[in-house]
Amino acid sequence: MVKILNVVGARPNFMKMAPIIAAINRRPNEASQRLAHTGQHYDEAMSAVFFGDLGMPEPDINLETRSGTPTRQMAHIMAAFEEVLIAQRPDWVVVVGDVNSTIACALAANKLDVRTAHVEAGLRSFDRSMPEEINRVLTDQLADLLLTPSADADANLLREGIPIERIERVGNVMIDTLFQQLERARNSTILDQLELRPGEFAALTAHRPANVDNPKALRRIWSAIGEIARELPVIFPAHPRTRARMREFGLSAPAGVRVIAPLSYLDFLRLWSNARLALTDSGGLQEETTALGVPCLTLRDNTERPITIEQGTNRLVGSDPARIVGAAREILSGGVSFAGRAPELWDGNAADRIVEALIVRARLAEIVNSDQIAPAAT
Ligand code: UD1
Repeated sequence: MVKILNVVGARPNFMKMAPIIAAINRRPNEASQRLAHTGQHYDEAMSAVFFGDLGMPEPDINLETRSGTPTRQMAHIMAAFEEVLIAQRPDWVVVVGDVNSTIACALAANKLDVRTAHVEAGLRSFDRSMPEEINRVLTDQLADLLLTPSADADANLLREGIPIERIERVGNVMIDTLFQQLERARNSTILDQLELRPGEFAALTAHRPANVDNPKALRRIWSAIGEIARELPVIFPAHPRTRARMREFGLSAPAGVRVIAPLSYLDFLRLWSNARLALTDSGGLQEETTALGVPCLTLRDNTERPITIEQGTNRLVGSDPARIVGAAREILSGGVSFAGRAPELWDGNAADRIVEALIVRARLAEIVNSDQIAPAAT
């Protein structure tokens, strides 16, 4: 029996972990799993609500982290996770994505010589000012098994000198969740609640420190969004970080922008899949809009997900108001057609491939650790 300890911490982890847990539970004779939640995200709307929406079991272990400086946050996670690892001694720790919880748990596992698998390995923005980029690079250096979503991720890892044996391309596990939940999301009443008609609004998320922690940058983005909101309503489920910064800088959203609380997964999916246009600085949304075929303008100068531009519906527009508004107008006037397609292996079956890799490699490790391959006695 392969013992797997899964880790989640922040909102974008939940939709990646849900299908992995389900896939492990489909193989009860071969693998078992426990779920640890670091508590990096703790508000009901940022965490608990996703467990219900995604059919995830309650976490078996809570590390009770709260916000703080990144160093304090990660130090707390590492110390608490170390105790869990000593008590559980799993065959695998599985971490997903690029948040502080991801690197903190990978590092704690490495110190105790527990094998770690990183799901969504190999993505690179090549922008070291992003905390997530540092988390990605370091987690990939530490992890024993790098489960990648696409060929560009494989190439990044090989370029960094990671041995080929540690890499396995499994596809995009977040898209497993998206496909599984699309039908259920049709029952969401969010469009009625907000009195919106499909295709007649834009949807916005913004929470990256580079965009929202600096008053000048945030003002520039708001001025662009204000222009767009003259042409169609813009719905903005506000991340707590952004809401706090707006209050701090004395900024209010421009007319035509509706600031609402963070949404559950199903409401969010319903809203996004019906938007005329998505504006975001999130990583995951670039992928979700590609899979949904919704035009997406990414409010950043770089992306760790270039495949969403090459094959999908994504376009980088940075934070320059003229560029953002120009690109939005082109889409609204029908001037650009996005014939996006879902990239290879974004097929809804990534979690099964992940679990197969974990089981096969754990069996190989068993052989290595046994005396079966000791040189024959002469
Ligand atoms: C984190 C991730 C980011 C991800 C984002 C998704 C890192 C480095 N960043 O950023 O990659 O895109 O999550 O949401 O891990 N807060 C609350 N309630 C919560 C959680 C946070 O109020 O449940 C507030 C706190 O004021 C906190 C701030 O949000 O200080 C930032 O939270 P934190 O987890 O440090 O980073 P995020 O900006 O959420």
